Amino acid sequence: MEYVTLNNGVTMPMLGYGVYQIPDGPQTERGVRDALEVGYRLIDTAQAYGNEASVGAAIAASGIDRADLFVTTKVWIANAGEAKAAQSIDESLAKLGLDYLDLLLVHQPFGDYYGTWRAMEHAYQAGQLRAIGVSNFYPDRLIDLVTFSEVKPMVNQVETHVFFQQAKAREYMAKYGVQAESWGPFAESRNGLFTNPVLQAVADKHGKTTAQVALRFLIEGGVVVIPKSTHRERIAENLDVFDFALDADDTAAIGRLDLGKSQFFHHADPETAEMFMGFAR
Ligand SMILES: NC(=O)c1ccc[n+]([C@@H]2O[C@H](COP(=O)([O-])OP(=O)(O)OC[C@H]3O[C@@H](n4cnc5c(N)ncnc54)[C@H](OP(=O)(O)O)[C@@H]3O)[C@@H](O)[C@H]2O)c1
Repeated sequence: MEYVTLNNGVTMPMLGYGVYQIPDGPQTERGVRDALEVGYRLIDTAQAYGNEASVGAAIAASGIDRADLFVTTKVWIANAGEAKAAQSIDESLAKLGLDYLDLLLVHQPFGDYYGTWRAMEHAYQAGQLRAIGVSNFYPDRLIDLVTFSEVKPMVNQVETHVFFQQAKAREYMAKYGVQAESWGPFAESRNGLFTNPVLQAVADKHGKTTAQVALRFLIEGGVVVIPKSTHRERIAENLDVFDFALDADDTAAIGRLDLGKSQFFHHADPETAEMFMGFAR
């Protein structure tokens, strides 16, 4: 495993396990158990995923020393605002069965996220959170929050993969000392990522898989990755990316796969904003 040191000195693994779209209950418990057994230590969940309790159950059953784990969750829009966010932090901790989180993120830049941020600052200062950050904050929102907040975000989790490499957004994260973290490192398999001929050629050259090349490319670019899989063999495959390195030709070829736009939706689109307003109600 490789690690990165955040702007407050906290150490974060460069690779973790994401549990988006895994139903609460045995499936999430099994996925997290498998991930922890094969060596993952970072787990990424969210209030909105509805599976914090199962993540917590798997962590408790693992017997792994709490200090060796790095647990992330995210405050959902429906819990935006200082009072609601503060209450939701306590609820997340209770569901996860933890007395502190390694990282808490504002999930979306909508609603009273300044109120949410103040609640997170207080919980951070009280020792309930080792690090705080944001998600889906494009440079305009990130620069705003960095400028007007007391505690600066340590991480920004945004859609980042070979088809949407986020050069500009990452440039501004670096400028403000915010660690880039990818969500959807496989673009949820959109655009034929796992059978892409460029990724396949690089994979064949190194005796690895397209999935491993896609992750390695991001890690070498300094981006934390949290791939999701419900299959134990893929969970293990996705962790096995620390025994090879891309060369300059590989990096250049994969760099040219960038389409410069989201494979899902862009947060600045009016339709996307309206969709998120619906979640807030
Ligand atoms: N902050 C946000 O707004 C946000 C948004 C989205 C995601 N996230 C976080 O980012 C994590 C990862 O993103 P994601 O879950 O959206 O998608 P992803 O990791 O890009 O892709 C997951 C898909 O890839 C497949 N897969 C995984 N490993 C594979 C392999 N080695 N070979 C072939 N197929 C493979 C999975 O199938 P199987 O499961 O069937 O193996 C699944 O269909 C999430 O779980 C979540 O923690 C955050």
